[in-house]
Amino acid sequence: MANEWWKTAVIYHIYPRSFQDSNADGIGDLQGIISRLDYVKKLGADAIWLSPVYKSPNVDYGYDVSDHRAISEDYGTMTDMEELIFEANRHGLKIILDIVYNHTSDQHRWFLDAKGSKNSPYRDFYHWRPGTPGGPPSDWKSTYHTSAWEFDEATGEYYLHMNSRRQVDLNWENPAVIHEVKEMMIYWIRKGVSGFRIDQLGHIDKKKSLPSYEQYVDKEADPHVEIIKDEGAHPYVRHLNEAIFSKYGMMTVGESGSATPEEALLYTDPDRKEVNMVFSFEHLQVEEAGSEASVKIDLVELKTIMEKWQKTLEKKGWNTLFWSNHDEPRIVTRFGDDGEYRAASAKMLAATLHMMKGTPYIYQGEEIGMTNTEFESIDEFRDSKAITEFHQRHYEQDENKEKVLADISKSSRDQARTPMQWNAEENAGFTDGEPWIKVNDNYLSVNVEQALDDPESIFWFYHALIDIRKTQPVVTDGTFQLIERDHPAVFAYTRKGEEQTLLVISHFGKEPVSFEVEREHLPDLFGRLLLSNYPIEDDPSVLTEPIELQPYETRIYLFEKQA
Ligand code: GLC
Ligand code: CA
Repeated sequence: MANEWWKTAVIYHIYPRSFQDSNADGIGDLQGIISRLDYVKKLGADAIWLSPVYKSPNVDYGYDVSDHRAISEDYGTMTDMEELIFEANRHGLKIILDIVYNHTSDQHRWFLDAKGSKNSPYRDFYHWRPGTPGGPPSDWKSTYHTSAWEFDEATGEYYLHMNSRRQVDLNWENPAVIHEVKEMMIYWIRKGVSGFRIDQLGHIDKKKSLPSYEQYVDKEADPHVEIIKDEGAHPYVRHLNEAIFSKYGMMTVGESGSATPEEALLYTDPDRKEVNMVFSFEHLQVEEAGSEASVKIDLVELKTIMEKWQKTLEKKGWNTLFWSNHDEPRIVTRFGDDGEYRAASAKMLAATLHMMKGTPYIYQGEEIGMTNTEFESIDEFRDSKAITEFHQRHYEQDENKEKVLADISKSSRDQARTPMQWNAEENAGFTDGEPWIKVNDNYLSVNVEQALDDPESIFWFYHALIDIRKTQPVVTDGTFQLIERDHPAVFAYTRKGEEQTLLVISHFGKEPVSFEVEREHLPDLFGRLLLSNYPIEDDPSVLTEPIELQPYETRIYLFEKQA
């Protein structure tokens, strides 16, 4: 049997640039991470997903790789990286490396060579096309809402970039590209990594006929998804699985932002031998208000999406469970309350997610309830996407500056990238220098030191959730059943295992609410309260009557045969 350690694991996601600086240059680094391994271990995580630390011109902070086998000077040296892998393993923490295989930086030696001449041996590493009378080869747009084609003066052709123009898409039809990617993976496996998080997993196959992008705009479909069909990626992923993932026992998680559960099943059905799990963002797109005013999101929609993913991947395949990452604004601000009920709502969100079936990912700072901050001027942004959007909307389309700033402040990836808040000292203990990006002002009260000292903190609540996952098999195996889908403020569900049933009741609103668990969901077994975010009595018999739930209250009950 394959070693499926990841089925009971919890993964901590580190964005190195913002985690811990060790040499006062204002930028987080590898030695900084090493100095914080005890902390990650204390939380109870089993592995670390490390966002890229490769050499990069930092157009997209490491997601534009200019050398896959070198470490960026910002983060340290290869020796530091080896030390990190070694030290992490010594702490019982596996390292999951971020693989960016859809594109390289325009500063990668392959591209520097390729753009010089049509005869370059690296020319076919990328997608080149002659222009049309109208300009670029097609109307495709990048994720930056500009043309996905960039003209190369020297050779008179256009190259394809689905992200920024400085992230050039690799041509997967060229076997030499696949060879290089495999060699690069083996290089890192030899260094001791235990798995890969694969960036833009399903984007590698491009439709050669260049179908018009415009035809999909304003339709239900996402034009990006339509021009880059995941279908085409499966054979490549299967090939990598056979040649690398299975062969070397790598855990794999791929980013497939717009995957439906059915597509995720194709990727993760073990019989198909592709990857272990994927990240899709469907559940993070529920931010229009539902029918209940005290709830920020359309909770019925969220429940429906979560149920669909839980059920579709229940028997085969596997889910990721996540609220945040380095691209998403802070979840407690989005789905919870970052004021009075910050702690309560952060705990409630965590409990709701962590008791589902799948592998939970915790993004740095989530475990202490880090919130969004205010970005007041364009100079405070670091994310090239936000800056590009500002220029397009304000300068090119003449939109009101304040309005654009307010919008990008809300949606910017920089919200996830403000420095980790370690303590109440200057710059939150992140750096002794000038931080590369602003620190959230609330670090005086929201920080690790404070969290570790307070037994009621969000940190210790996450710790308790991880402990439940490690000690109660039903969390890993139980089947999921949603309770009362139409309730606009309460997300309740059970997980049924052979000998245990878990009951989770979470209130997503600010106003107290009364909720009744239908009889059929209450097993006739001995029950107890495992965890809650308000002091309540451990007496599951109260569940036979309607219960009053406090703002953002959450309760986890476990039912089993009496020992
Ligand atoms: C993924 C990464 C994101 C990056 C993009 C391009 O979506 O998570 O940060 O900008 O891929 O590599
Ligand atoms: Ca540094």
